[in-house]
Amino acid sequence: MVSMILRFVFPVYNISMRTVFWEDNQLKMIDQRILPGRFEVIAYKDHKSVARDITDMVVRGAPAIGAAAAFGLALAGYESAAKTSAELMNDLRSASVTLKAARPTAVNLAWAIDRILNKTSDLNSLDGADSLRQIVLDEAQRIADEDVEINKRMAEHGAALINDGDTVIHHCNTGALATVDWGTALGVIHTAHEQGKNIHVLVDETRPRLQGARLTAWELEQYGIPYEIISDNTAGYFLKAGKVQKCFVGSDRTAANGDVANKIGTYMLALAAHDNGVPFYPVVPTSTVDLALSHGDLIPIEERDPSEVLGLEFMGERVAPENAKARNIAFDVTPNRLVTGIVTENGVVYPPFDVNLKKAVLGE
Ligand code: MRU
Repeated sequence: MVSMILRFVFPVYNISMRTVFWEDNQLKMIDQRILPGRFEVIAYKDHKSVARDITDMVVRGAPAIGAAAAFGLALAGYESAAKTSAELMNDLRSASVTLKAARPTAVNLAWAIDRILNKTSDLNSLDGADSLRQIVLDEAQRIADEDVEINKRMAEHGAALINDGDTVIHHCNTGALATVDWGTALGVIHTAHEQGKNIHVLVDETRPRLQGARLTAWELEQYGIPYEIISDNTAGYFLKAGKVQKCFVGSDRTAANGDVANKIGTYMLALAAHDNGVPFYPVVPTSTVDLALSHGDLIPIEERDPSEVLGLEFMGERVAPENAKARNIAFDVTPNRLVTGIVTENGVVYPPFDVNLKKAVLGE
């Protein structure tokens, strides 16, 4: 099927809708590449376009790309001309390979696809292709709905860690945009703000794609939460000066021992927080915990195109010399010894993480 992309332009900036949603038999996603300058929603009718735009970061943030991939699989079901459920399963499996390859680090992507495939493999011999298509879509919708509910639960647990008057550092974007709605670490900050606590947020700008300066600042603006953007290398200054009470970050994949993979720069932030005795809390839905990996060195780390680093401009001119080379590592791993506690929807998990994280994931 030919890829179909429709653009809807909303003249008023707002985030009163979900980041990823199903409407009129299409997947719709807010285009996060162009925020905050423009607010546009793209509509998708085929899974290959979804996979391409996960890679291109129209949608980003671990839970959001999990939901996008789930709806992408639903689209693959409707694209397929299969007449039997067995034929359709073959097409779904081949689409799942394409979708899973879109980005490697966030485990939510594979988790969402596998959850749907596990569900369908139980049922495919009983019903026809059409009911299988509906089952895939229903499960994708459930994944999206659960994400919002889980984020709100995590936010309640995390907000209890924030005191009135706290200044917190936040890295990357973990808000409504990084999830289906509400967010993980930024959801915690948002909930604490709604509880009436005065909070000040220092927003790491998050080179090279500037998710902090562009997306987190844009969200905080709408929530009315006071913030200042800092360059990533400024965090250590404020931590050492005693101006920061807590750090909150998200995670793309957390290993069974509590090692946390997150946006590049998180490790340096955790080191500086630890050196200055400032609590460091990753906010991690259990869908982001990969119990199959015993420690963080096993987490696949995405390396993106160097042009994202080299394309930076200053005073309207490209910064790097024309022939410059660059490395663009998208994530790093913070070892569990630097982590104070991991906020999950089942409560805040404290060391020893190799024992307690598993209990939280399995709901024990
Ligand atoms: O490369 P991105 O923008 O997808 O990276 C996002 C992050 O690193 C987030 O912190 C992470 O996905 C968790 S937020 C819900």
